[in-house]
Amino acid sequence: MREFIYYSRTAPTAGRYITEDLQASGRIDIAVHSVIASFFLSHKIRTDVRLHLLFAGPPEPVKHLELFPKTDGKTGVDKIYLGKKDVSGILRKMLFKYKPGIKNEVFPGYWIEKKNFMQLVEELSNQDKKLFILDPDGEDIRKVEIPDNPVFILGDHKGLPSKEYKRLAKIATPVTIGPKTYFASQTIAVVQNELDRRGI
Ligand SMILES: C[S@@+](CC[C@H](N)C(=O)[O-])C[C@H]1O[C@@H](n2cnc3c(N)ncnc32)[C@H](O)[C@@H]1O
Repeated sequence: MREFIYYSRTAPTAGRYITEDLQASGRIDIAVHSVIASFFLSHKIRTDVRLHLLFAGPPEPVKHLELFPKTDGKTGVDKIYLGKKDVSGILRKMLFKYKPGIKNEVFPGYWIEKKNFMQLVEELSNQDKKLFILDPDGEDIRKVEIPDNPVFILGDHKGLPSKEYKRLAKIATPVTIGPKTYFASQTIAVVQNELDRRGI
């Protein structure tokens, strides 16, 4: 199992804030592309990925949307259809189904709750998972040892917030995928490829 945490300061925290203009909706387009890079292969959905989306935009930050889509069973009963065309619709429905005080399973394998960035990071670190920060200034990922069940943390178009970064750097190792600055979704795709090649 591999996990990604995508943190966005601007992504909205209520369903009504997602309109047809995804870029104007707190850059939810970046989250959509990150979902696609996390789960979609040619003619196949990855079953070894868990994606955490942390949305810290208006009006009620911070929301944790966790995606580990079920792929077995009957569509509409045991699982929902995950298509590339309407990822924003799924995220919108998840935000609408937020219920205070609980981690609500909106569809099989899709949860929403209120949780902040460091809470989630510390929770995963306490499960003995090795955490990596995706950072252009980090160590070359090709030279880094990566154990099973790694967690990779990445930021939005503004990067990771510096206040959180300082605390994060105490428990996570910064790694780079190369000399350019890539889109968040491209970064996920490169990491997936690196893990696939290593059989992790
Ligand atoms: C579009 S980039 C953010 C650019 C932003 N201007 C910044 O200064 O961080 C989105 C995210 O992709 C990841 N990323 C982009 N290029 C990377 C690289 N070469 N190595 C590792 N991570 C990278 C980082 O996690 C970054 O927060």
